[in-house]
Amino acid sequence: MTFTVSPETLSKINSTHRQSVPALDVPVRLLLGPGPSNADPAVVAAMNRQPIGHLDPAYTALMDEVQNLLRYVWQTQNKLTLPMSGTGSAAMEATIANVVEPGDVVLVGVKGYFGHRLVDMAGRYGADVRSIHHAWGEVFTLPELRAALEEHRPQVLALVHAETSTGARQPLEGVGDLCREFDCLLIADTVTSLGGEPIFLDDWKVDLAYSCSQKGLSCPPGSSPFTIGERGLAKMDKRQTKVANWYLDVSMLRNYWGSGRVYHHTAPVNMTYAIREALRLVSEEGLETSWQRHRTNAEKLWAGLQDLGLSCHVPHENRLTTLTTVKVPDGIDAKAVTKALLTEHNIEIGNGLGELGGKVWRIGLMGANSKPENVDRVLEALGQVLAKMKG
Ligand SMILES: Cc1ncc(COP(=O)(O)O)c(C=O)c1O
Repeated sequence: MTFTVSPETLSKINSTHRQSVPALDVPVRLLLGPGPSNADPAVVAAMNRQPIGHLDPAYTALMDEVQNLLRYVWQTQNKLTLPMSGTGSAAMEATIANVVEPGDVVLVGVKGYFGHRLVDMAGRYGADVRSIHHAWGEVFTLPELRAALEEHRPQVLALVHAETSTGARQPLEGVGDLCREFDCLLIADTVTSLGGEPIFLDDWKVDLAYSCSQKGLSCPPGSSPFTIGERGLAKMDKRQTKVANWYLDVSMLRNYWGSGRVYHHTAPVNMTYAIREALRLVSEEGLETSWQRHRTNAEKLWAGLQDLGLSCHVPHENRLTTLTTVKVPDGIDAKAVTKALLTEHNIEIGNGLGELGGKVWRIGLMGANSKPENVDRVLEALGQVLAKMKG
């Protein structure tokens, strides 16, 4: 039987958003903002391979490798360590969705934009959300956290290790011990720290953590590390209610990522190729070398900014090496500067987010992008743009 279409139907089909567009052509930018960062060419090449089936033994072997490499970059023995399908927010939501039950008290340390996102997410899962606050760019001390745990007695404490909106690093040493004292789980957001900043998840006694692929791992966005330890699993296994998010339900996902290999959803196969290659490259370099490289290049950036008469928003001791917030000088239109960097120099840096909008720029030196040539390029371009603006 042949398929025939009436002239009226054909006209309808073609008038419904059919458009002739050229083959894909995107500019190659130097991405020195808060993310995504440029993907390593080896990662892009890995991603470019033909997909194979997500239950193919060749694929499940890759899954094991990815899980092990994630344990390495996070320094954890957690069995349930896997990349969630989706961006960092998916892995973030997975931590909340799996251990929070309606009515649980969830305490969030808010000192930037992503703390607010945790508050929002926990509330959506029915938590009794409490928050403690610091000015954007500051961090919590252990005594402050102890006082808050004493006051709120939460089931879960959530903290952002690397707050991308402010450029501040929240020290996590000792926080896990505190949480155990108060019988509470600790969730850590390591989206902007993984691969670039030292993380010792097990030593710090972090119970759940999440990250992303598109920053310190030099991979495109779309495959987001997630991990949960024994204490988190124990809480999850005692749930009275089903996890309210089907896609991110770890009680089902673990049957696919464990030895059963039970289908849950079609894995984003090519993203797994990509993150495997990205993690392989981190392992080849060595974490300690990567952390030192991030520090050396950040210090070079900070010195160069000072030479340009610019200052950083965060005090040196709490400054992230992966993401620097730079104060916008009085009288300068922040967005005009980022626009000029992009259009005239092909460099992306970030504008301020939330409370810091218009007040800071955000310069990321993450993953393979953290190198001296990139520091020189962004400093030179920024210097030229500012000089032109000041006339
Ligand atoms: C600290 C932090 N948490 C969570 C997220 C959310 O990740 P995504 O935008 O990949 O969903 C981001 C994104 O930049 C982030 O910086």
